[in-house]
Amino acid sequence: MIYLDNAATSWPKPPSVYETLGSFLQTLGANPGRAGHRMAAGAAAAVADCRLRLARLMNAESPNHVVFASNATDALNLAIRGLLRPGDQVITSSMEHNSLARPLRSVAEQGVRVTKVLCSPQGVIDRDVVAAAVSPRLRLIAVTHASNVNGAIQPIEDLAEIARHHNALLLVDGAQTLGAMPMDVQSMGIDLLAFPGHKGLLGPPGTGGLYVGPQVDLATFTPQRSGGTGVRSEDDAQPLELPHRYESGTSNTIGIAGLAAGVRFLEEHGVQSIHQRESSLTRRLIAGLEAIEGVRVCNPPAGAPQAAVVSCVVDGWSPADVGSVLDQSFDIACRTGLHCAPDACRTIGAFPEGTVRLSPGCFTTEDEIDAAIAAVAEIASTPSA
Ligand SMILES: Cc1ncc(COP(=O)(O)O)c(C=O)c1O
Repeated sequence: MIYLDNAATSWPKPPSVYETLGSFLQTLGANPGRAGHRMAAGAAAAVADCRLRLARLMNAESPNHVVFASNATDALNLAIRGLLRPGDQVITSSMEHNSLARPLRSVAEQGVRVTKVLCSPQGVIDRDVVAAAVSPRLRLIAVTHASNVNGAIQPIEDLAEIARHHNALLLVDGAQTLGAMPMDVQSMGIDLLAFPGHKGLLGPPGTGGLYVGPQVDLATFTPQRSGGTGVRSEDDAQPLELPHRYESGTSNTIGIAGLAAGVRFLEEHGVQSIHQRESSLTRRLIAGLEAIEGVRVCNPPAGAPQAAVVSCVVDGWSPADVGSVLDQSFDIACRTGLHCAPDACRTIGAFPEGTVRLSPGCFTTEDEIDAAIAAVAEIASTPSA
């Protein structure tokens, strides 16, 4: 099988991730931070190791600035619901995944003012449009780093500058980028970075997290759940300090240990070199698809920054039918439709049917890309049933 659905979740995982998941519960299955015995200490050390590796990977100020969550959606919900209050303004874009757009819709119903800026037909935010949309109550700019529909990368540093200028915060959805390209939260000016553990970081499903930067006032950033943290048990109130304030309850230790193995793989192979490889596969895929008559590629133009996510539509074919034929006749796994991002599909002119999305990952080969191009060419040359 040729797996080109890495934007949904990366597969396969490095062998060390499978090995860790296979053995972790037998050797370190105790509850971290809740007891002093050696197995609990070992589990706590495994969680701390993952936090440290993630902090290094994104250049966080310290490991404590990394809060574990179940996935990117969980982290985005924590950031949005924890920060925004009625009357606040949040600026977002028309390229967002529902995991960011729907929590915003929900806080809008409680009186938060959500301003959505329209991106270009290539899916890119114009910083001047954002600057013009700022009101005196701006609290947050909340955008994705790279689109999960067409890979378009947003001008994060520009948006950080606008947020900083207005004493507001910048929340970035790093679902398509952390682990897949070098990221530095400090130099990019990111205050909150939501990320999944199961995509570019190569960890298992059920993992993810939120980087919470030093500009965030923890007293007014409310946790979405409170309870046992393993620290300050004598206090009635939820602790104020990172990461415990946002991590009540027993953590997903096995998933976190698997995630650490994924991040270790990235350290060994280098995020920059993985990024270069994936970029070259992405360029090859786009060029191959663009050369096919009847295929429209929906990505930003060649040379524009983009993640390893390629969307196209095939004349006379619904994306869903193309996906079925790729799966059943060519053994190629991709995703079709709106990709949980209907607004993004509208922005790039692919609504309501959406697109065929092919997303290479760090184990994809050039031969697999060529096979996918040949398969799409064959489909495009055949009338749809
Ligand atoms: C841009 C973007 N944001 C958020 C998410 C949600 O991620 P998760 O499934 O880890 O909650 C995804 C997943 O596809 C995504 O692509």
